[in-house]
Amino acid sequence: MSVHHLMLFLHVLGVAVWVGGMAFAWGCLRPAAAQLAPAQRLPLWAATFARFFPLVWAAVALIGLSGLFMLIERGFAGAPRAWHVMLLTGLVMIAVFAGIWLGPWQRLQRAVRVEDWASGAVALNTIRQRVGFNLALGVATIAIATLGLGL
Ligand code: HEM
Repeated sequence: MSVHHLMLFLHVLGVAVWVGGMAFAWGCLRPAAAQLAPAQRLPLWAATFARFFPLVWAAVALIGLSGLFMLIERGFAGAPRAWHVMLLTGLVMIAVFAGIWLGPWQRLQRAVRVEDWASGAVALNTIRQRVGFNLALGVATIAIATLGLGL
């Protein structure tokens, strides 16, 4: 096993946790939790994100460091264009996640603490939209990484 393969393993592990977690949240938990009243639904989401978001930070660190390692190993100039595009879409995904963490996630936690369900619902809706965006960009990035898509 080479260092490259170890980096690729950590990279894809991070992608599996991040994109897989978003797919579960969007496709499974969201429709199931929609049945609940806000007083149950919003604390459930806050407790879920309190566990998922630290995992995403760990995945971001793994994906970013291993991706940069493999890119530098090959040399930026000699790397396929698809890798440059992956760097770009990866950075956009990380920026979107950092925006969720700093903005609506803080507002959702505060709203749940003071039981302000109206503000909590607005914050959760913003998180839902941004996670949907990152999920779509994540799937597109996997397609770029594996299929090239003519890049
Ligand atoms: C943050 C910046 C990122 C950089 C610098 C980066 C860079 C790289 C590099 C250099 C490889 C090695 C490709 C190979 O050896 O064939 C790779 C593989 C891969 N990357 Fe990224 N990546 C980044 C983010 C992402 C993100 C956000 C995703 C998905 C959401 C992703 C998905 C993949 C996949 C699935 C592979 C495996 C491709 C294969 O082996 O065929 N990457 N990445």
